[in-house]
Amino acid sequence: MSLGATAPSRATLATPVFDPAVLRRDFPILDQEVNSRDLVYLDNAATTQKPASVLTALESYYRRDNANVHRGIHELSRRATVAYEDARARVGRFVGATDPAEVIFTRGTTESINLMAWSWGLDVLREGDEILLTEMEHHSNVVPWQLVAQRTGATLRWLEIDDQGLLELDALPKLLGQRTRLVSLTHVSNVLGTVNPVADIVHTVREHSDALVLIDGAQAVPHLPVDVRSLGCDAYAFSGHKMCGPTGIGVLWARRALLDSMPPFQGGGEMIRVVEREGSTWADLPHKFEAGTPNIAGAIGLSAAVDYLERVGMAAIARHEHELLTYALDHLAEVPGFRGLGPDQVELRSGVISFALGDAHPHDISTILDSEGIAVRAGHHCAQLVMRHLGLPATTRASFYFYNTTDDVDRMVTALHVVKGIFG
Ligand SMILES: Cc1ncc(COP(=O)(O)O)c(C=O)c1O
Repeated sequence: MSLGATAPSRATLATPVFDPAVLRRDFPILDQEVNSRDLVYLDNAATTQKPASVLTALESYYRRDNANVHRGIHELSRRATVAYEDARARVGRFVGATDPAEVIFTRGTTESINLMAWSWGLDVLREGDEILLTEMEHHSNVVPWQLVAQRTGATLRWLEIDDQGLLELDALPKLLGQRTRLVSLTHVSNVLGTVNPVADIVHTVREHSDALVLIDGAQAVPHLPVDVRSLGCDAYAFSGHKMCGPTGIGVLWARRALLDSMPPFQGGGEMIRVVEREGSTWADLPHKFEAGTPNIAGAIGLSAAVDYLERVGMAAIARHEHELLTYALDHLAEVPGFRGLGPDQVELRSGVISFALGDAHPHDISTILDSEGIAVRAGHHCAQLVMRHLGLPATTRASFYFYNTTDDVDRMVTALHVVKGIFG
């Protein structure tokens, strides 16, 4: 079952057999040697690879349909506009959004969160208001709020993580109150792999405050079925490049009433209704938040990625990643000095393994792995608050996607034995 550019029709894929070894053939980049070894790509939390169908969608847009959207009366502009707006509806449906006007295309999760911070935050927050974040946030969900808090006098409060890498949810009700205006947290931790119980958290927030809930879904949407409506949150952010789509495209989904209440984030073309010397009025949603020429090809590529992921099946992807995680943790435990971070219960995790290996520095570990053709990440993973909690300056991180196999894990385990041999 290869689902790439020459994918068979939907009908013939009704009951596909999930086989990562076959699926990976859809990803041309994976078929190469790095440092004279077959590439093993385990840096999927940073960015994922693109199937041939996404590459084809990008190329055919630029070869046949390229024009600016919403402006021209000519055929190419009409085609580009239809493809761009179809992509919005398609990507929205993928996460359970029924109204395409609630789907704002951004550059990615970072810009989606900044949109909320600079539009909603700057407009609404006042001195004494509180923003509740968690200790496991990516810097993208920390720094925008620090910047806006500095300007508005709002205060940041923190939900801590425990030694397992789970949120201390018992403390949540005490952190909520009249002053809490926003709770913003990640759905899945990019360091620990922890999958947070978002629907339960939203329920608790509603019981104890009137705060909005914003979810950073950068590590969730690519890996598990997500339905923004059943999660109950007010806004949800994610990135295309972490889910087989191109870089430079992402989404902010938010409730229509919330988006209607928010002022524009950036000004320029596309986002206005009328411009006068004295001032301007704004276009309807979603265009109010999409100033300038958007990333048309990116949206079309993301839509193709969503088509691909749906054909593979999000439930099957989540199941495979759990199996791979379990397999990997079992085998990594045999490497002397291996210390895995994150929850013990694999059901509470996604396919991310951050680890320490004796005293070996993560940069040395990943350099040796690279020499064996294995791509992992070393560093603080843009989550220095998590590192501080762990008492480590950095970790090595292997992160899986559905095209990874047990062979990939075996290659990493063997290479870590080599690392251990070198560093003793
Ligand atoms: C949890 C989380 N949030 C936000 C981001 C930022 O995503 P982007 O760089 O695509 O905006 C990342 C990227 O690694 C992430 O893992």
